[in-house]
Amino acid sequence: MLLNGIGNSLKNNQKMSINTICCIGAGYVGGPTMSVIAQKIPSVKVIVVDVNQARIDAWNSENLDELPIFEPGLDAVVSEARGRNLFFSTDVEGAIHEADMIFISVNTPTKTYGDGKGMAADLQYVELCARQIAKIATSDKIVVEKSTLPVKTAEAIKDILENTGTGVNFEILSNPEFLAEGTAVQDLETPDRVLIGGDQTESGLKAIQALVNIYATWVPKNQIITTNLWSSELSKLTANAFLAQRVSSINALTELCESTGANIDDVAKAIGTDSRIGPKFLKASVGFGGSCFQKDILNLVYICKSLGLDEAADYWEQVIIMNNHQRSRFAKQIVTSLYGTVAMKKIGFLGWAFKKDTNDTRESAAIYIADKLIDEHAQIQVYDPKVTAVRMHSDLNALNSRTEAENSKFLEIHNNPYKALEGTHALAVITEWDEFKAYDWQKIYDGMLKPAFIFDGRNILNQKMLESIGFIYKAIGR
Ligand code: NAD
Ligand code: UGA
Repeated sequence: MLLNGIGNSLKNNQKMSINTICCIGAGYVGGPTMSVIAQKIPSVKVIVVDVNQARIDAWNSENLDELPIFEPGLDAVVSEARGRNLFFSTDVEGAIHEADMIFISVNTPTKTYGDGKGMAADLQYVELCARQIAKIATSDKIVVEKSTLPVKTAEAIKDILENTGTGVNFEILSNPEFLAEGTAVQDLETPDRVLIGGDQTESGLKAIQALVNIYATWVPKNQIITTNLWSSELSKLTANAFLAQRVSSINALTELCESTGANIDDVAKAIGTDSRIGPKFLKASVGFGGSCFQKDILNLVYICKSLGLDEAADYWEQVIIMNNHQRSRFAKQIVTSLYGTVAMKKIGFLGWAFKKDTNDTRESAAIYIADKLIDEHAQIQVYDPKVTAVRMHSDLNALNSRTEAENSKFLEIHNNPYKALEGTHALAVITEWDEFKAYDWQKIYDGMLKPAFIFDGRNILNQKMLESIGFIYKAIGR
């Protein structure tokens, strides 16, 4: 056999050897995470499986520009490991059968139906994985929750697995992922910490150690934290809630800055130098997006409400309320500044992704701001360096605010920023892509209608320079 696997030395000198890892779900987490594990440990075979054939085909594409996920540095990692010990496949059953350790990394979106609609996490995909593992497994497996899950989910997974009657032993671990999109490879290669939760029984501790050994190949041991299952599951929701809360907290001060003459960037700097507060995640914006902050906080709110913890639920829900307000407020400011009407006016959008360096648009503020402006009959002209036109149209259509035909009349997508901004009355910076700062702003000004407005939803452009060209420049929180 070509592969040796990773041995787990136990006190009793037994070895738990991990030769093959399988990951169910080849998405934003499963793909990059498994690619990095495969790159770091050539002796372990890593199979990433998904039911989505197109996604797997893209992961297997010869042309690395066609990988389904854009992440800086990911192409190099995939190119090194793919075909050596990293494989992408739709053969879910085959991979489950072969693996010693199975990561569940499927989507856990907010429920759109039934009890908990609009708040609870939809666990149907996770449960399906557990049932499939139970059906297929003929040897002992360590099952790792990589998806973000409500606290106590491991209990349900355990119940399903333990009632299969096949005599196979399963150990469940929680190993939440903390990577952020746009910096996924860097976050995986040098994580602040790795968190592993498991049962505090002899076999549970053995399973925890097996996963510790995987990460310890490249992560310093003192950065690998081990806990029980419930602390690990809850820590992931808590981390996202705290991060989102910081963004909403700084955004909650932007209106106050605008009406008092204070500058939010100065305030952020002043408070961020306090080592107890720290400088990160204090950048005022059009509001946070991404697939997880809103979903995970809603889930936290739902859990609190289900347990009758109404004050805790209300506290966390306010983070979402503030974020929705920030998006609406930005759209409203554009309308108000453009003399109360944007009907038939062209408004350029720079950026559609929810943050820079990703092609992910889930819950991006761009979608909601465009929708509100289209309600006012504005014509939106968008340029984003990485997001496809198909993606933008489907994001807007998914809101069901109007027919697809109407949406496509109001949303025009360009692959050249200067063309997107030509003939516009105003432009809005929605995503903080670095390239926007280096544009020829005189050329953009010349092509726009006057007065030419800039609404900088990320405070990234040079106000002085733009005002000297002639733009009317409006930042967030200044
Ligand atoms: P994603 O939607 O990009 O990928 C999930 C994949 O799972 C999809 O390709 C889907 O086809 C596949 N899938 C679903 N059910 C399946 C099944 N039964 N068998 C095989 N494949 C199946 O989702 P994601 O962004 O990778 O997120 C996955 C989980 O990780 C979520 O719980 C999320 O909260 C969490 N998370 C995400 C991020 C992030 O940055 N996106 C970061 C940390 C944690
Ligand atoms: C976030 C967390 O940072 C990750 O640790 C976590 O693993 C992940 O969610 C997840 O569970 O999915 P991500 O959503 O990819 O990662 O990106 P962030 O960098 O956290 O940004 C989220 C949103 O907040 C973006 O829209 C970003 O523009 C916005 N943001 C962030 C601000 O508006 N201001 C800031 O100061 C920071």
